[in-house]
Amino acid sequence: MARNNHYWVPAYKDGQFNIDLVELEALLNKLEGQTNYLFLNYPSNPTGTTLNKAELTAIADICRKHGCYVVSDEIYCEQNFTDEGHTSMAEIYPEKTVISNGISKWLGAGGWRIGFMIVPREMSAVVDAMNMYNSEINSGVSSPIQWATIKGFEDTPEMTEYFANSKAILKTISGIFRRNLVDAGIASTTTGDLGSYYVLMDFTN
Ligand SMILES: Cc1ncc(COP(=O)(O)O)c(C=O)c1O
Repeated sequence: MARNNHYWVPAYKDGQFNIDLVELEALLNKLEGQTNYLFLNYPSNPTGTTLNKAELTAIADICRKHGCYVVSDEIYCEQNFTDEGHTSMAEIYPEKTVISNGISKWLGAGGWRIGFMIVPREMSAVVDAMNMYNSEINSGVSSPIQWATIKGFEDTPEMTEYFANSKAILKTISGIFRRNLVDAGIASTTTGDLGSYYVLMDFTN
């Protein structure tokens, strides 16, 4: 991103803060011929919304048409409270999506300072650049943290139970918090408990 232009794609309150597809298409038309990256984050900090499969497909269709890459921050992937659950942009648009993630949110390990990116094979130059940058700027993650992280990725009954329990707790707290805000006359700008653990408050009235 350094020394490159960046642009905001509007995401309106009435559209649940999902990005406006007409505006996205207009922007990519304007930037035609350049290499473009769309940065997404869902479930979202700070709106508490998320994107479903249909919405992701619509975004991917526009990006594919314009050759636009996507960097998708899915750090709250296990905090999706919808029945549909989380779909990764990499499932829909694998050829040009980079996943950005870390263990602090979905694994409840804030402060453990480990993050990772998943990059499509055809974008291996990105991995080389990141390795070069990280080898000069960051030091290695301590080995106990690395071993603990491996446990988090294991498909075991313990992990399944942990994810189900933390999701249930966060969804309950978020629902109570939201209801109390509404009772106090402060409408929350998101209408449902969709994901992450944020409520964006609306003080318009
Ligand atoms: C959307 C999003 N991405 C990434 C991060 C970074 O998390 P960490 O620095 O704990 O790995 C945060 C933290 O608040 C976040 O909200």
